[in-house]
Amino acid sequence: MGILDGKVALVTGAARGIGRAIAERLAAEGADIALCDLKEEWLADTAEAVAGAGRRAIRVAADVGNAAGVQAAVDKVVQELGRVDILVNNAGITRDGFLVRMSEEDWDAVLSVNLKGAFLFTRAVARPMMKQRSGVIVNIASIIGLIGNAGQCNYAASKAGLIALTKSCAKELAGRNVRVNAVAPGFIQTKMTDVLAEDVKKKMLDAIPMNRFGTSEDIANAVLFLASEQSAYMTGQVLSVNGGMVMM
Ligand code: NAI
Repeated sequence: MGILDGKVALVTGAARGIGRAIAERLAAEGADIALCDLKEEWLADTAEAVAGAGRRAIRVAADVGNAAGVQAAVDKVVQELGRVDILVNNAGITRDGFLVRMSEEDWDAVLSVNLKGAFLFTRAVARPMMKQRSGVIVNIASIIGLIGNAGQCNYAASKAGLIALTKSCAKELAGRNVRVNAVAPGFIQTKMTDVLAEDVKKKMLDAIPMNRFGTSEDIANAVLFLASEQSAYMTGQVLSVNGGMVMM
């Protein structure tokens, strides 16, 4: 018996890192999972892990920033798995650079994936969720969306926007029993952060009271809580998971 038995979850950016860990965690608690990423073949390992947990996995290729692709992805999930109970907007990218050198292209790319992508998927699942009078949406924001960061104005703006989107959608959908919350991870060890210079990582580590970087599983556990009935009275909230790096 899992706490998500009978549920269907859709996880974006599920090919690797935090998205993959979320898909595996939700499957371990009984959910069937629709996995979304840019290329279907990138999702093979995650799909295998979900199947290994005894749950159904379907793979959908979509660029989260493309409206037609997102609608087609949600239609496919509803057709093949019958419904969507849980949406996790996890796909995200960085294109770091200082403000004065930030290209319009890098600004648009980050806003398209991190913010517009969540808007498009939320809009696409909102109708079926409102109809079934239940649903849970979890947006993966970032500590950077709360405090800002030099060299990441595009990323910080996208994640702050995602938090505002979370709160607005929470207010709109609460009356239909659809909850919308966000997780704000701190520094998590994934391919996204592997590329940072060692001295940057050392500085980050020094700022973390728990003296370790987070794991994808740390974030997946927070998502599981927000996706389950354990958080039934929570909506419009931002759950910080950062080893104490920022306390607000
Ligand atoms: P990652 O780079 O390892 O994985 C991101 C996944 O999203 C990849 O599988 C990628 O193919 C997919 N993706 C990228 N663009 C896409 C698009 N247009 N359409 C569909 N899929 C797309 O990153 P990681 O670290 O697992 O990050 C996951 C989420 O967590 C992101 O939203 C990120 O901003 C957020 N986050 C990560 C932190 C960290 O320290 N790693 C800290 C705070 C937030």
